[in-house]
Amino acid sequence: MIGVFDSGSGGLTILKALRNALPDQDFMYFGDHRNAPYGHRDNDQIVELTRAGVKTLMDRGCSLVILACNTAAAVALRSLQQQWLEDQYPGNRILGVLVPMVEAITGQPWMADAAPDGSRRDRILLFATSKTVSSGAYCEEITKRAPNVDLIQKACPGLVDAIEGGAGKRPLRGLIEGYISEMNTADASAAVLGCTHFPLVEKYFRTALPTSVKILSQPNIVAASLASYLQRRPHFAEGGTGSITLLTSGDPTTTNEISQRFLDPKLAFVSA
Ligand code: DGL
Repeated sequence: MIGVFDSGSGGLTILKALRNALPDQDFMYFGDHRNAPYGHRDNDQIVELTRAGVKTLMDRGCSLVILACNTAAAVALRSLQQQWLEDQYPGNRILGVLVPMVEAITGQPWMADAAPDGSRRDRILLFATSKTVSSGAYCEEITKRAPNVDLIQKACPGLVDAIEGGAGKRPLRGLIEGYISEMNTADASAAVLGCTHFPLVEKYFRTALPTSVKILSQPNIVAASLASYLQRRPHFAEGGTGSITLLTSGDPTTTNEISQRFLDPKLAFVSA
């Protein structure tokens, strides 16, 4: 069974793409709705909460866990992988959603034309939580692979809360148009929605961004990356029947009501 973790319901966008790409695989999702959102918490809290979330999934039999949360991946992944995982769950693995995005950005066709001396530069827009932006994790990973990319980061405070809280079209559009109006989008080649909640409002990003800006979809990119990982490490994919389990640290009734808009109607959250 493969575990999928998010602070709340945003990771369901990733889960949906994983199910489409790997229909025979068993997935267990854990949304830490009681503690969401993570985007404005301090780093120690995010590490602690992410560790607890991964533990919940690994104690229930998930030997591989995907952090379907950019904030958790940016702040906690490295420390959990380095210090904790091998001690507590030897042989188990935790993967994030950030590196597949960075690989997709730097592997785009436009990168092939990039001049090695840096004389041609590419501008990529990144929309994410305040914490993902301040962690600098996307900048660090992109600079390692493609120093000619200028990443223009935009923190989107309030957007996760608005999505989790069930805000309507008008306030959501207003928030997104506001973030974009504060940026210089000229000459940008692409935009990364670097928060797993944001694909739920991708259409508002699409209408507010210039048509020349390509939106890179995190769910499909992460699903393709996991499928290729499992081909290389098939023991993590053994014995699946296509089952899906949804766990929450919050109140299941409220979580199901709020998540209804982005949940397969046959699925429901239960208490972790
Ligand atoms: N969905 C999470 C992400 O990808 C973040 C939400 C939060 O702030 O809790 O960053």
